Amino acid sequence: MAYISMQGVTKVYHMGEMEIRACSGIDLEIEKGEFVVIVGPSGAGKTTVLNILGGMDTLTEGQVVVDGTDISRLRGRQMAAYRRESVGFVFQFYNLMQNLTALENVELALQICKNPLDPAEILEEVGLKDRMQNFPAQLSGGEQQRVAIARALAKNPKLLLCDEPRS
Ligand SMILES: Nc1ncnc2c1ncn2[C@@H]1O[C@H](COP(=O)(O)OP(=O)(O)OP(=O)(O)O)[C@@H](O)[C@H]1O
Ligand SMILES: [Mg+2]
Repeated sequence: MAYISMQGVTKVYHMGEMEIRACSGIDLEIEKGEFVVIVGPSGAGKTTVLNILGGMDTLTEGQVVVDGTDISRLRGRQMAAYRRESVGFVFQFYNLMQNLTALENVELALQICKNPLDPAEILEEVGLKDRMQNFPAQLSGGEQQRVAIARALAKNPKLLLCDEPRS
Protein backbone atom coordinates (compact mmCIF):
# COMPACT_ATOMS: atom_id res chain seq x y z
CA MET A 1 0.00 0.00 0.00
CA ALA A 2 1.16 3.55 -0.74
CA TYR A 3 2.44 5.78 2.09
CA ILE A 4 -0.73 7.83 1.79
CA SER A 5 -3.84 6.19 0.40
CA MET A 6 -7.28 7.77 -0.03
CA GLN A 7 -10.08 5.54 -1.16
CA GLY A 8 -13.60 6.57 -2.09
CA VAL A 9 -13.28 9.75 -0.04
CA THR A 10 -16.57 11.61 0.04
CA LYS A 11 -17.52 14.65 2.09
CA VAL A 12 -21.09 15.87 2.34
CA TYR A 13 -21.95 19.02 4.27
CA HIS A 14 -25.50 19.50 5.45
CA MET A 15 -26.83 23.02 5.61
CA GLY A 16 -30.44 22.85 6.69
CA GLU A 17 -32.25 21.00 3.91
CA MET A 18 -29.34 21.39 1.51
CA GLU A 19 -26.75 18.71 0.89
CA ILE A 20 -23.39 19.96 -0.39
CA ARG A 21 -21.06 17.37 -1.88
CA ALA A 22 -17.61 18.93 -1.35
CA CYS A 23 -15.86 15.90 -2.83
CA SER A 24 -17.13 12.62 -4.16
CA GLY A 25 -15.34 9.27 -4.39
CA ILE A 26 -11.75 10.48 -4.49
CA ASP A 27 -9.02 7.84 -4.90
CA LEU A 28 -5.46 9.03 -4.44
CA GLU A 29 -2.15 7.32 -3.68
CA ILE A 30 0.98 9.22 -2.67
CA GLU A 31 4.39 7.68 -2.06
CA LYS A 32 6.88 8.86 0.54
CA GLY A 33 8.86 11.83 -0.73
CA GLU A 34 6.39 12.55 -3.50
CA PHE A 35 5.39 16.12 -4.32
CA VAL A 36 1.75 16.38 -5.39
CA VAL A 37 -0.19 19.38 -6.66
CA ILE A 38 -3.99 19.23 -6.56
CA VAL A 39 -5.60 21.40 -9.22
CA GLY A 40 -9.23 22.09 -10.05
CA PRO A 41 -11.73 24.92 -10.36
CA SER A 42 -12.91 26.94 -7.37
CA GLY A 43 -15.26 24.86 -5.25
CA ALA A 44 -13.96 21.55 -6.66
CA GLY A 45 -13.00 20.35 -3.18
CA LYS A 46 -9.24 20.96 -2.98
CA THR A 47 -9.30 22.55 0.47
CA THR A 48 -11.70 19.86 1.66
CA VAL A 49 -9.23 17.13 0.64
CA LEU A 50 -6.34 18.95 2.38
CA ASN A 51 -8.39 19.42 5.53
CA ILE A 52 -9.27 15.72 5.59
CA LEU A 53 -5.62 14.71 5.03
CA GLY A 54 -4.57 17.17 7.74
CA GLY A 55 -7.02 15.78 10.28
CA MET A 56 -9.03 19.00 10.46
CA ASP A 57 -12.19 17.57 8.95
CA THR A 58 -13.86 14.17 9.05
CA LEU A 59 -15.12 12.28 6.03
CA THR A 60 -18.62 11.11 5.25
CA GLU A 61 -17.50 7.98 3.38
CA GLY A 62 -14.24 6.31 2.45
CA GLN A 63 -10.88 5.61 3.98
CA VAL A 64 -7.64 7.54 4.46
CA VAL A 65 -4.51 5.65 5.49
CA VAL A 66 -1.30 7.51 6.35
CA ASP A 67 1.81 5.46 7.12
CA GLY A 68 -0.29 2.47 8.13
CA THR A 69 -2.76 4.40 10.30
CA ASP A 70 -6.39 4.69 9.24
CA ILE A 71 -6.87 8.35 10.09
CA SER A 72 -10.52 8.25 9.09
CA ARG A 73 -11.14 6.33 12.32
CA LEU A 74 -9.26 8.68 14.63
CA ARG A 75 -11.30 10.80 17.01
CA GLY A 76 -10.70 13.36 19.74
CA ARG A 77 -7.28 13.13 21.37
CA GLN A 78 -5.90 10.70 18.79
CA MET A 79 -6.86 13.05 16.00
CA ALA A 80 -5.29 15.96 17.87
CA ALA A 81 -2.08 13.95 18.30
CA TYR A 82 -2.06 13.17 14.57
CA ARG A 83 -2.40 16.88 13.73
CA ARG A 84 0.27 17.82 16.25
CA GLU A 85 2.87 15.18 15.38
CA SER A 86 2.33 14.16 11.78
CA VAL A 87 1.04 17.19 9.90
CA GLY A 88 2.68 20.46 8.93
CA PHE A 89 0.17 22.92 7.47
CA VAL A 90 0.95 26.15 5.63
CA PHE A 91 -2.19 28.26 5.53
CA GLN A 92 -3.01 30.66 2.73
CA PHE A 93 -2.59 33.70 5.00
CA TYR A 94 0.32 32.31 7.03
CA ASN A 95 -1.33 33.00 10.43
CA LEU A 96 1.85 34.19 12.15
CA MET A 97 1.68 35.67 15.65
CA GLN A 98 2.30 39.36 15.11
CA ASN A 99 3.84 39.96 18.54
CA LEU A 100 6.43 37.18 18.17
CA THR A 101 9.61 37.29 16.07
CA ALA A 102 10.18 34.88 13.17
CA LEU A 103 12.25 32.64 15.44
CA GLU A 104 9.71 32.78 18.28
CA ASN A 105 6.89 31.91 15.86
CA VAL A 106 8.70 28.71 14.88
CA GLU A 107 9.68 27.92 18.50
CA LEU A 108 6.08 28.32 19.68
CA ALA A 109 4.80 25.70 17.26
CA LEU A 110 7.45 23.23 18.41
CA GLN A 111 6.49 23.38 22.08
CA ILE A 112 3.71 20.86 21.50
CA CYS A 113 5.75 18.62 19.22
CA LYS A 114 7.78 15.49 20.08
CA ASN A 115 10.71 15.37 17.65
CA PRO A 116 11.18 18.86 16.29
CA LEU A 117 14.12 20.08 14.23
CA ASP A 118 16.25 23.07 15.24
CA PRO A 119 14.22 26.26 14.57
CA ALA A 120 17.24 28.45 13.72
CA GLU A 121 18.62 25.85 11.30
CA ILE A 122 15.32 25.55 9.45
CA LEU A 123 14.96 29.34 9.23
CA GLU A 124 18.47 29.45 7.78
CA GLU A 125 17.50 26.78 5.25
CA VAL A 126 14.59 28.88 3.99
CA GLY A 127 16.95 31.85 3.62
CA LEU A 128 15.97 33.81 6.74
CA LYS A 129 19.22 33.61 8.73
CA ASP A 130 19.41 37.39 9.05
CA ARG A 131 15.68 37.99 9.59
CA MET A 132 15.00 35.68 12.54
CA GLN A 133 14.72 38.46 15.09
CA ASN A 134 12.24 40.46 13.04
CA PHE A 135 8.51 40.65 13.67
CA PRO A 136 6.14 39.60 10.85
CA ALA A 137 5.22 43.24 10.13
CA GLN A 138 8.90 43.91 9.38
CA LEU A 139 9.07 41.11 6.81
CA SER A 140 8.02 41.04 3.16
CA GLY A 141 5.10 38.84 2.10
CA GLY A 142 7.44 36.18 0.73
CA GLU A 143 9.55 36.24 3.90
CA GLN A 144 6.43 35.82 6.07
CA GLN A 145 5.45 32.89 3.90
CA ARG A 146 8.87 31.33 4.44
CA VAL A 147 8.46 31.71 8.22
CA ALA A 148 5.18 29.80 7.93
CA ILE A 149 6.89 27.12 5.82
CA ALA A 150 9.77 26.89 8.33
CA ARG A 151 7.26 26.56 11.16
CA ALA A 152 5.53 23.66 9.42
CA LEU A 153 8.81 21.98 8.35
CA ALA A 154 10.44 22.26 11.79
CA LYS A 155 7.81 19.91 13.21
CA ASN A 156 9.46 17.28 11.01
CA PRO A 157 5.99 16.14 9.89
CA LYS A 158 5.05 13.12 7.79
CA LEU A 159 2.95 15.38 5.57
CA LEU A 160 3.51 18.99 4.60
CA LEU A 161 0.22 20.42 3.34
CA CYS A 162 0.03 23.83 1.67
CA ASP A 163 -3.29 25.36 0.67
CA GLU A 164 -2.60 27.67 -2.26
CA PRO A 165 0.15 29.67 -0.58
CA ARG A 166 0.67 33.02 -2.30
CA SER A 167 3.90 33.11 -4.28
N1 LIG B 1 -17.88 23.91 6.07
C1 LIG B 1 -18.58 23.88 4.93
N2 LIG B 1 -19.93 23.85 4.97
C2 LIG B 1 -20.64 23.80 3.84
N3 LIG B 1 -20.12 23.75 2.61
C3 LIG B 1 -18.80 23.78 2.50
C4 LIG B 1 -17.95 23.85 3.65
N4 LIG B 1 -16.65 23.86 3.23
C5 LIG B 1 -16.71 23.81 1.90
N5 LIG B 1 -17.97 23.75 1.44
C6 LIG B 1 -18.40 23.65 0.03
O1 LIG B 1 -17.76 22.51 -0.54
C7 LIG B 1 -17.32 22.77 -1.86
C8 LIG B 1 -15.82 22.53 -1.95
O2 LIG B 1 -15.14 23.54 -1.20
P1 LIG B 1 -13.55 23.68 -1.12
O3 LIG B 1 -13.27 24.79 -0.18
O4 LIG B 1 -12.96 22.34 -0.81
O5 LIG B 1 -13.17 24.09 -2.63
P2 LIG B 1 -11.76 24.48 -3.28
O6 LIG B 1 -11.52 23.52 -4.39
O7 LIG B 1 -10.73 24.56 -2.21
O8 LIG B 1 -12.07 25.92 -3.87
P3 LIG B 1 -11.12 27.22 -4.01
O9 LIG B 1 -10.27 26.98 -5.23
O10 LIG B 1 -12.09 28.33 -4.22
O11 LIG B 1 -10.32 27.36 -2.75
C9 LIG B 1 -17.74 24.21 -2.16
O12 LIG B 1 -18.95 24.15 -2.88
C10 LIG B 1 -17.93 24.82 -0.79
O13 LIG B 1 -18.89 25.85 -0.83
MG1 LIG C 1 -9.55 26.16 -1.43
